[in-house]
Amino acid sequence: MKKKSLVSINDFSKEEFVRILDLASEFEKEPTREILKDYVIATLFFEPSTRTRLSFETAISRLGGKIVGFSDSSSTSTSKGETLKDSIRIVSNYSDLIVMRHPLEGAARLASEYASVPIVNAGDGANQHPTQTLLDMYSIRKTQGRLDNLNIFLVGDLKYGRTVHSLLMAMAEFNTTFYFIAPEELKMPNEYKGYLDKKGLKYIECKDFNAYLPEADIIYMTRVQQERFTDPIEYERVKNVYILQRSMLNGCRENMKVLHPLPRVNEIALDVDDAPQAYYFQQALNGVYTRQAIITHILGIK
Ligand code: CP
Repeated sequence: MKKKSLVSINDFSKEEFVRILDLASEFEKEPTREILKDYVIATLFFEPSTRTRLSFETAISRLGGKIVGFSDSSSTSTSKGETLKDSIRIVSNYSDLIVMRHPLEGAARLASEYASVPIVNAGDGANQHPTQTLLDMYSIRKTQGRLDNLNIFLVGDLKYGRTVHSLLMAMAEFNTTFYFIAPEELKMPNEYKGYLDKKGLKYIECKDFNAYLPEADIIYMTRVQQERFTDPIEYERVKNVYILQRSMLNGCRENMKVLHPLPRVNEIALDVDDAPQAYYFQQALNGVYTRQAIITHILGIK
């Protein structure tokens, strides 16, 4: 039987989230083990990436696995007109699992329908980024000591931000109260607010979040993604609306942490990096352990 893919964060249950986070804790204690030595994993990146691709490849390498793939699809037969469907069928023959990033929403789901091996969605357009979500949850649990009953601020591009969409759906399982801070043009889409409504969860939408900051357990900053805009004037208008300054951290909860999926442009001032609340570089490192856990969970490796 074909093993399960991870396309949407909802492909995993709440119990699986917790199992993967527990497994990631074990990998953090001992990240180097030869448990993937008989496996070939494909990393197909049709869109640029630093952290996701390199942390997957580090995760696989530290477990003794082999990697095939590309970071630039212009060097592949996609540039000759090969369809995604054909490419996926071919790569399925070469590998045991495919990690794929693609600019089009729904590309990972389509790939999972044609692949004979599991697909792990490493980001599909503005839709989902489920492995980022699991590493975000790992970082939240590690810093807060729990996942339940937290106040999470999502700041910046909530319209096109795939990381916040996946995170909202996963953390909705843990009675989270969300604060949405975005310019009008980049508000959280209604489908995600409706998702919370159905679960009876509270959310607050605001444009100026200074007054609410003392309530935050997690401030999750995001980049306004130039590549998702068709109108450059609209991008210019919103790109610097929210910049987290160090002075804004005064008066926050003692254990509050600032997360960011990265890359950052201007939305976190550089002097925040040295503040005790800054956790985004450690968050990116947690991606290695979490991705080791995701791969081994999907492949059923003990
Ligand atoms: N967080 C994230 O997806 O970063 P990259 O685009 O560098 O992979």
